Amino acid sequence: MQTTPSGIEVPKTPELLQDFERFKRMLHERTGLDLNQYKFDQTYRRIWTMAERAGFRRFTDYFRYLTEEEARLRSFIDRLAINVSELFRNPEQFELLAREILPALLRRSFSLRVWSAGCSYGAEAYSLAILLHELAPNRGHLILGTDIDQEVLTRARHGVFQESDLRSAPSPYRERYFRQFTENGRTLYEADPALQRYLRFERHNLLSDPYPQGFDLIACRNVIIYFSDDAKERVFREFYRALKPGGYLFLGNTERIFNYQQIGYENPYAFYYRKPESEVLRWQNAS
Ligand SMILES: C[S@@+](CC[C@H](N)C(=O)[O-])C[C@H]1O[C@@H](n2cnc3c(N)ncnc32)[C@H](O)[C@@H]1O
Repeated sequence: MQTTPSGIEVPKTPELLQDFERFKRMLHERTGLDLNQYKFDQTYRRIWTMAERAGFRRFTDYFRYLTEEEARLRSFIDRLAINVSELFRNPEQFELLAREILPALLRRSFSLRVWSAGCSYGAEAYSLAILLHELAPNRGHLILGTDIDQEVLTRARHGVFQESDLRSAPSPYRERYFRQFTENGRTLYEADPALQRYLRFERHNLLSDPYPQGFDLIACRNVIIYFSDDAKERVFREFYRALKPGGYLFLGNTERIFNYQQIGYENPYAFYYRKPESEVLRWQNAS
């Protein structure tokens, strides 16, 4: 028996484990979401907690309840994906990006193609838009923000943030790029519409959809921590293919690619993996 941080006991009898396998199968058939690609213990615990709160002690009973209403099922999937984010999360990683990586990429390409994969409500994508606007405005850069969760994508398109989202944002950027307003007694911040021209938000499941291609930079931070080791490996290989030669993959500050050399990456800075330039030659020779 495990206990969640909020004190809920999580039983794991053989019957419940079997019931959970049925739940995963039914959910996969109904929605295409394959929970086998997420870490087992964490997923089991979270779904048990949600089921328990809704008054169920069998996963398949909870599934029947969820599927009674489409909106209920959608909201379950959305809650399953943890959406925590903030602008300039881990600011030292963004400093390196602004000081070294983006200037180097901008020397090679007039406009950059950037992908914020697992972008949640867009804080990371807007942070990247601010840096590009500062370094090289009006050059037609694209920042594609994708997530599995439709609800956060709607929020991302609006570009409205809370005070807590801005706590790591450098103050000149806070002042320059956000308009403060009050709604229902809450202080909110609207991102400068000038940033919108770079941004596009689309739904994409990293575990089942084909990957868009040709990126100078892919930020995928605090997303793969929920994935199984096999799923992580596949995602890292897909990102490698999706990068241009010389392009960078930017990971979260608890994430590593242990076999990066085997995949082909270089690791010039902590949390940054690069597809070698020499790929250009290989690619040119092949064509
Ligand atoms: C913790 S947030 C990370 C947000 C942002 N990258 C950051 O670091 O601040 C994780 C996001 O990954 C998304 N996610 C989870 N599984 C996914 C999948 N299979 N495909 C795409 N996005 C996924 C979740 O919906 C959630 O918005």
